[in-house]
Amino acid sequence: MLRRLILALSRSGAAQRVATHFPGFRGFSRRFVAGETQSDAIAAVRRINDDGYEATVSFLGEDASTPDEVDRDVTELTSFATAARNAGVRSHMSVKLTQLGLGFDHSLAERCLDTVAAHAADAGTFVRIDMEDSRYTVVTLEIARAARRTHDNIGVVIQAYLRRSADDIASLAAEGMPVRLVKGAYREPPDIAFQSKREVEDNFLQLVDLYFERASPGARLAVATHDPRMVRGALASARRHGVPRNRFEFQMLYGIRPGLQRALRDRSYTTRIYVPYGSHWYPYLMRRLAERPANLWFFLQNAFRR
Ligand code: FDA
Repeated sequence: MLRRLILALSRSGAAQRVATHFPGFRGFSRRFVAGETQSDAIAAVRRINDDGYEATVSFLGEDASTPDEVDRDVTELTSFATAARNAGVRSHMSVKLTQLGLGFDHSLAERCLDTVAAHAADAGTFVRIDMEDSRYTVVTLEIARAARRTHDNIGVVIQAYLRRSADDIASLAAEGMPVRLVKGAYREPPDIAFQSKREVEDNFLQLVDLYFERASPGARLAVATHDPRMVRGALASARRHGVPRNRFEFQMLYGIRPGLQRALRDRSYTTRIYVPYGSHWYPYLMRRLAERPANLWFFLQNAFRR
């Protein structure tokens, strides 16, 4: 119930205007967001690399509604790739196709992805296309596949809560497409998405198995979860299928379950931290609240402190 309410608020412009002007909420955002500027992101990636982790940065933005907004994000994404290389830090980039204009112009999003992937390739890095809500699943997979024909530094995300994901992940594995597997962060109806935690988790583990079973050369799985049971299941699946360590990695979000991050790093598993930055942090933060409504307590403590 609370999760639904928070996810509904994440899409409300009025709630966003109130929340982003409230100092307590801004302070709370720093728990999950590295900062507002590119230099904040580079500094965070440097700390993360120095601690023995890999990174993928996300310049926060989604649902762009004008070509100017898209331009702003493409400029930031391309300049980040160059700045990270010049600063000598290691980081992939995560992008949302709606920040590249998918919501209003399909071909603009394709062209912008091409630009970002080309810059990333020049800087020797990789672009992960985040998966948004189910209005965009089919088109995101189409655009990712088309982009991969030109750029081999592109990967996509599959959400375990979607009923269709078994078919998707099996074909992506056979095509050698790098996949990040997540549980899924949006509100989706029962006809297309599993609703219970147990069903989503069972499906997550089946999808790991499927990907490893079908993987062809180039395929690489990013197991993106903070759930120790999913981590153990993925490791057991890799062992069963004889998958070497360089064909999979773990990914977690900035500021979440640092103990589990350390445990995997200490066992020499590649562990990549997703580092969001930028001023458009409201919808991202609301999805983090919805995943764990107990975060509301951290938020309230923060609000009272200020
Ligand atoms: P679960 O939600 O069951 O959490 C397991 C444990 O982790 C919790 O018990 C708690 O201890 C801790 N935890 C989890 N979330 C927390 C939070 N917000 N605050 C504090 N503690 C928390 N989704 C999507 O739809 N499209 C995408 O592209 C991506 N991309 C993405 C990248 C990366 C690197 C990660 C880790 C996740 C995503 N996600 C995503 C989000 C994903 O779908 C999912 O909502 C979250 O990862 C939470 O699910 P868990 O697997 O962590 O399990």
